Amino acid sequence: MSAIAIAGSRFIIVGGASLVGSATAAELLDAGAREVVLFDNFSLGSDAAIAHLKDHPRLRLVRGDVLRMPDLLDAMRGMDGALLLAAYMTLNMDRDAWGGLDVNIRGVQQALEAARATGVKKVVFASSNAVYGYGPGVKGDLVEETPFFSAGAPPAAILYGASKIIGEQLCRHYKRKHGLDYVVLRYSTVYGERQHYRAANALYIIETYDKVKRGERPQVFGDGSETKHFVYVGDLARANRMAFESAATDVAVNTSGPRPMTTLELVRMVTKLAGGGVEPDFVGEEPGKVRLTSGGAFRIAHEEAERVIGWKPQVEMEEGLARLIAWKEGNEGRGQ
Ligand SMILES: NC(=O)c1ccc[n+]([C@@H]2O[C@H](COP(=O)([O-])OP(=O)(O)OC[C@H]3O[C@@H](n4cnc5c(N)ncnc54)[C@H](O)[C@@H]3O)[C@@H](O)[C@H]2O)c1
Repeated sequence: MSAIAIAGSRFIIVGGASLVGSATAAELLDAGAREVVLFDNFSLGSDAAIAHLKDHPRLRLVRGDVLRMPDLLDAMRGMDGALLLAAYMTLNMDRDAWGGLDVNIRGVQQALEAARATGVKKVVFASSNAVYGYGPGVKGDLVEETPFFSAGAPPAAILYGASKIIGEQLCRHYKRKHGLDYVVLRYSTVYGERQHYRAANALYIIETYDKVKRGERPQVFGDGSETKHFVYVGDLARANRMAFESAATDVAVNTSGPRPMTTLELVRMVTKLAGGGVEPDFVGEEPGKVRLTSGGAFRIAHEEAERVIGWKPQVEMEEGLARLIAWKEGNEGRGQ
C-alpha cells in the first residue's frame, strides 16, 4: 500500500496541460514535489493553461502521446506517482468517437502498462460521475455502488461514461495482476481558473458569463429545475494530492463540491457575478447540441472520500465562481 510523501517525490501528470492538470501541478509543487512532469500532446490542452507554471524550476513539460508507448516509457522513468487525466469528454466524444475511445481506453491501458514497467508506486485515475450515466434513472443520492443508467441518454455521453468504467476496471486489473497501487477519483463537473469550453455542464457557467457580459439574456433550458453538481478545481487538486499521500489503494470514491444546485440557481448566480441586470431566457432544446439531463434531483455523495483519503470539498460555489470570473477578467483577450 503506497503512501507517497509529496515533498521530495516526482510526479507525472498525463494530460497535464489541462484544467485539472494545471491546478494539480501547482498543488504538488507547492507541497514540495521534487519534480512535476506535464505530459501532453496538446490536442485539447494549451500553452495558455500552463502559462502560470511554465518557468517553474521544478516543472518539466514533455510533448508526448498516450497512444505512443515509447513516449510514455521515457516520461515515466523515475516517477513516484502518475496522475492520469488525458481523455476526451462527451462533447469531443460526440465529434470523434474513434479518437475518444482510443485515448480513454487504450491510452489508459498504455499508461498503466508504462507505470508498471517503470516502477511507478501509485496511480491516481481521473474518473467521472459519468460512471452513473445520464437520464431518468439518475436521481437521489449517487453513492459509489450506484449502477450505470443509460436509457434515453445521448450516445456520446454513454460512450464517455462507459469508457471511464473501463478505465477504472483496467486500474483494478493492474492491481490484481501486477500489484500496481491506484486510487480512482470520480470527479463531478469541474470549474475554476483556466476554465475551458470542453465540458458540457460547465458550459452553462462560461456561456452564461459570456452572454451577460455582451448584454444578452442568458439561456436556461427547460424550466431550470435540473440538477448540476460541480466541484471547484482547487478542491480537486487537493483531492489528487491527498490520494497520493494516503495509504488507500484499490478503491474508487466520488469527489464532488459541497452541494448540488439547480440550473436556474446557477444561471442567476453567474449573472449576478457578471454584473447582473438581465433576466434569463427560458428556451427549449437546441437542435444538434449534446445536452446532459437527469430525471430528477440528485446529489453526488462525497462522504466516502473523507473516510478513504481524508478529503472533503471546501470551496462553496459563490466563492469558486468569483475566482473563475476574476481569472477570466484578468485573461480577457488572451485567447482563453
Ligand atoms: N472537466 C470536467 O468537468 C470533468 C468532470 C469529470 C471528470 N473529468 C476528467 O478529468 C480529467 C481532466 O479533465 P480536464 O477538464 O482537466 O481535461 P482537459 O480537456 O482540460 O484535458 C485533457 C488533456 O488531455 C490531453 N490529451 C488528449 N489526448 C491526448 C493524447 N493522446 N496524449 C496526450 N495527451 C492527450 C489534452 O491535450 C488535454 O490537455 C479527464 O480525464 C476528464 O475526463 C473532467
